[in-house]
Amino acid sequence: METKSTGQGTGNIIEVEGLGKEFNGVWVLNDINFDLQPGEIHSLVGENGAGKSTFIKILSGVYQPSAGSIKTDGNPVVMHNVKHSESLGIRTVHQEINLVPFFSVFENIFIGTEEKRRFLGVNVMDDSKMKKKAREVIKTLGVELDIDKPTHLLNASMERIVEISKVLVHRPRVIIFDEPTTSLGEEERKRLLEIIKGLKSTGIGIIYISHNLDEVMEISDRITVFRDGRKTGTMYKEEASPEKIVSMMIGHKSYNEYKRDKSYKERDVYLEINNLSTDKLDNINLSLHKGEILGIAGVVGAGKTEIAQAIFGLDKIHKGQIYLYGQKYSPSCQRAISNGIALVPEERQAQGLIPNYSVMKNITLTYLGKWCRNGVMDRQAEIDTANEYIKLMSIKTTGHSQIVKFLSGGNQQKVILSRWLNGDFKIGIFDEPTKGIDVKAKEDIYSLVDRLAGNGKSIMVLSSYLPELLSISDRILVVHDGKIVGEFDPKEENAKEKIMHAMLGGRVA
Ligand SMILES: Nc1ncnc2c1ncn2[C@@H]1O[C@H](COP(=O)(O)OP(=O)(O)OP(=O)(O)O)[C@@H](O)[C@H]1O
Ligand SMILES: [Mg+2]
Repeated sequence: METKSTGQGTGNIIEVEGLGKEFNGVWVLNDINFDLQPGEIHSLVGENGAGKSTFIKILSGVYQPSAGSIKTDGNPVVMHNVKHSESLGIRTVHQEINLVPFFSVFENIFIGTEEKRRFLGVNVMDDSKMKKKAREVIKTLGVELDIDKPTHLLNASMERIVEISKVLVHRPRVIIFDEPTTSLGEEERKRLLEIIKGLKSTGIGIIYISHNLDEVMEISDRITVFRDGRKTGTMYKEEASPEKIVSMMIGHKSYNEYKRDKSYKERDVYLEINNLSTDKLDNINLSLHKGEILGIAGVVGAGKTEIAQAIFGLDKIHKGQIYLYGQKYSPSCQRAISNGIALVPEERQAQGLIPNYSVMKNITLTYLGKWCRNGVMDRQAEIDTANEYIKLMSIKTTGHSQIVKFLSGGNQQKVILSRWLNGDFKIGIFDEPTKGIDVKAKEDIYSLVDRLAGNGKSIMVLSSYLPELLSISDRILVVHDGKIVGEFDPKEENAKEKIMHAMLGGRVA
C-alpha cells in the first residue's frame, strides 16, 4: 500500500520501524511504522494523548526511543539530541510556544544560532544580517510584524508566526508542524496552509499534526492515524474521509455529533453593556440573559477578548455603562469575581496551569474554599470532584495525582477548563474554550456548557471557530474591528454564510 510515490523524491527521507516509547513503565507509543518522502505532506491525527507529540519529539531528538529504529535517507541513525536531528535537516514547530519574552522578534528567531561577524579581531553579533534574514522570512509569511518588538508584546498568533520563522530561516529538508494553526485567525490560517503547500513544492518533506480534519483533508498527501499510542493505519488522501478518520481515531467509542435541542434562556438579564467604548471597542451594546449561551464570533483581533477585558476592568473605559443583575457596575477584577463572573482566558496554558502540581490541584485550585468544612480540607470531596471531571472530560491521565506537566497539550487544556467549569460562578466567559482539543472531547465540553446553562448560569463563548458557536449558542453576535456588526439566530437560514460575511467585515461571503 505504501509503495506509491506521493512526493517528488524516490526514497524516504525518514523511515521509522517498530518505534516505541515508555515513560516510567507506561508505554505511550507502541510499534509505530512511518515514513516520509521528499515533497509530501504526511499528516498525523489522533485524540488528545494519542502519542502524536511524543512521536515527533523522538524524530526531533527531544526524547530517545525505548524501542525501534529510525533511518534518514536510508541510513540508520540514533538521534542523540535536538542539535543532531537539526543537523540532519529536521526542524520542528512545537505545540508549545517557547519564546524568550523580553527578546525581540529577530533575536528569538536566531536564538542559539546567532550570525557572527569579525569586528576588530573578535566575533560580534551580526545584527544587520540577522535582521535582513528575519525580515525576508516574515515577508514570505505575508504578515506585518515589527522584528524589533519584544515578543512578550505579541498576541498568540504572532507568537506562532515567530515560532514558524525560527524554523524557516534554516531552510530545513523536513519540517514538522505540531498544531501550528491553533492560535491563528482564519486568514492567517489559510495563508499558513498555502505556505506549507509552497514548501512542499520545493521538495521539503512535511509532517503535519492537527485536530482540524478539514484542514488535514485539504493539505495532506497521506494521513496516519494514532489511537492510544498505536498506529491504526496510513492512507492516501483519496482513500480518506473525515468520518473514516474519526472512526480510526476513536475506535468503537461512541461519538454523536453534538446537537443542542433546548434553550434555557430566561427573561432576567444578568449582564448588560450599553454604548461601551475603550481603546479597542466602539460603542458595544449587548445583553446576556440568565441561562443563555451567547456566542461572540469574530476573527482573531476583532475585539472579542477586549469585551471580556472591559468587564474585568483591564482596559480603560472611555464611555458607556455596564449593569450586572440590573445594578450599575464599575468594572474591576475583584468586583467581577465577587459578583460571580468567571473568565476562562484564551492563553490558559500560560496564565492558568501550575506545571508541577497534580491534575487534582490544578482542577480544584480556584475553588479550594468549596472543599473546606470548618476550616478543614475535605480531601475526599476534592478527590471526588477531580475524578468526576477526569471522567466527564475524558482527561487522559494515570490518575488525579499525576503531575500535570506530563499530560499531553490537549489534556492540559481540559484540566484548566475543568477548573472553571466546576466553579460557583453565575456568569461564565469562555475565550476560545476548545482550542487544541480533539473532536470527541469538544463534544464533551459542549454538553458541559449546555448543562451549566441548564443550571441557570449565563455563558458567553468567544470563539473564532464558527461551527462551535453554531452548535452551542442561543444567539450569536459578530464583532468586527471593535464593533458589533450583526446579531444572528444560529438556526436561521444560511446562518453560517451570513455570519462569515459579517466576521470578514462584509468583504467576502
Ligand atoms: N514526559 C512524560 N512523562 C510521562 N508521560 C508523558 C510524558 N510526555 C507525554 N506523556 C504521556 O504520553 C501520552 C501521549 O502524549 P502526547 O503529548 O504525545 O499526546 P498528543 O497525541 O500529542 O496529544 P494532544 O493532541 O493533546 O497534544 C499521554 O498520555 C501523556 O500523558
Ligand atoms: Mg500534542
